[in-house]
Amino acid sequence: MKSLKSLRWIIATLLISYAAEILAAAEDDENDGKSIDEILMSAATRNSVEMLDLFHMMEENKMMAMVELDILLNMTELARYKTNPSRNKRKALRYGQYRWPKSKVPYEITESEFTGRDIEMIQDAFKDWETYTCLEFKQVQSSDANRYPDRIVFKNGDGCYSRLGRVGGPQPIALGRECRRRGIVVHEIGHAIGWIHEHARPDRDEYITINYAQIPLNKHPQYDKVDAGIINDFNVVYDYTSIIHYSGRAFGEGTIITKKPTYQNKIGQRDGLSFRDIKLANLMYGCAAMNKCPEEKQCPGEGYVGKHCKCYCPGSPGKPIEECPITTTTTTTTTRQPVITTTRRPVITTQPPTRVCRDVITTCSTFKQDGQCQRDKARMALYCKLTCELCDEDLNKMCMDFGDACPIFASAGYCSLTGISEFVKAECPKSCKLCEPQLACSQSDFFNSGSIPDLNKLLIFLVVTLIKF
Ligand SMILES: *[C@@H]1O[C@H](CO)[C@@H](O)[C@H](O)[C@H]1NC(C)=O
Ligand SMILES: [Zn+2]
Repeated sequence: MKSLKSLRWIIATLLISYAAEILAAAEDDENDGKSIDEILMSAATRNSVEMLDLFHMMEENKMMAMVELDILLNMTELARYKTNPSRNKRKALRYGQYRWPKSKVPYEITESEFTGRDIEMIQDAFKDWETYTCLEFKQVQSSDANRYPDRIVFKNGDGCYSRLGRVGGPQPIALGRECRRRGIVVHEIGHAIGWIHEHARPDRDEYITINYAQIPLNKHPQYDKVDAGIINDFNVVYDYTSIIHYSGRAFGEGTIITKKPTYQNKIGQRDGLSFRDIKLANLMYGCAAMNKCPEEKQCPGEGYVGKHCKCYCPGSPGKPIEECPITTTTTTTTTRQPVITTTRRPVITTQPPTRVCRDVITTCSTFKQDGQCQRDKARMALYCKLTCELCDEDLNKMCMDFGDACPIFASAGYCSLTGISEFVKAECPKSCKLCEPQLACSQSDFFNSGSIPDLNKLLIFLVVTLIKF
């Protein structure tokens, strides 16, 4: 009897330690140290590099653009996203119109494309939003399409992406295998409710430096700022720790440098919503008004009025928010986070980008084995220069398109369409007929060049040759 009991005890102990091991392994997977953008890059290049192209022909032959790795825009949206109202004197459109009415977001999961565990993970990501904001996510079935025409549809995909805000009708959040992690899903939901990337904010230059020397030239537009006219930051201060901020690894290494060095390895986190993420969502979706909180209610410091009309302030590690301490006096209740102002003139790099030969993605050796270095030279010169031994190729001189859809986009007239032409030209130099004429080493070229020093050299050469005879 006694031995049986101890045997049970041993088995129980074994089971517990086994379970602990499994949990630890799962934990490791979550904390493999990869940033948001690294995961997006590896998901996009799982089977090919085409998902890194700017332009894509989607279902029903719709032309779409994938900007900043994971935001899918149609051409109207791209032109608006890239617009510069102050320059073009265009009326600014705010993304407010793309909010979900009454903070209610219906979603559908294409169940055949996900495992039970994936589905639990997606629902877990919604919990983050529902715990801290007034956004409500309601799962609907495809048979409910008539009642919920506007909804998010989770589906499998090459790469991982979302549309920006509510666009009308079913809109995808695509989750490739690599992206089936809570933090990534929280990030993509951020785009779907209307968030741009933090590092694309109009005021980002006060907080980060974009190291363009580390980014292939035709990817420079991926690091554009969004014009102040099309977004509203609700006076929430720039946040290095936002879930919508990339690390410095998208399209290159060391591409984003934080002006406060201590934040360099904090950017690109995917643990969850930060305090300012939560505050922004609460303000953007009018959560205080929705909860009928008194309008005049003020919170100390950076605090905001949240659930149950309480004031919430930045929390301690592991907790993004905490109820604000009750202040006895009301004198300094609105101290704002000091805004960092640049006292020095911004450093303008006039030097041409130094050409560093390196791979931009981690899957290059596989592509090389598959013979892609020869088959797809333009893309490989962009992403796998080192592995494909294409270091000497000058991207600016290569008369090549960097995407399959280029001829279609060129013939649709996008090479000269205001708003997006810059983007198109960078991606499609060949189809947009921007290539420099190739200098052939023929005699006629030599004489047509009209370069006097060269003619002198030729004369000297002739004279020397004659003397030798
Ligand atoms: C793009 O989507 C918007 C909704 O965000 C829609 O109004 C517009 O007509 C679409 N444009 C194209 C070219 O499909
Ligand atoms: Zn994103």
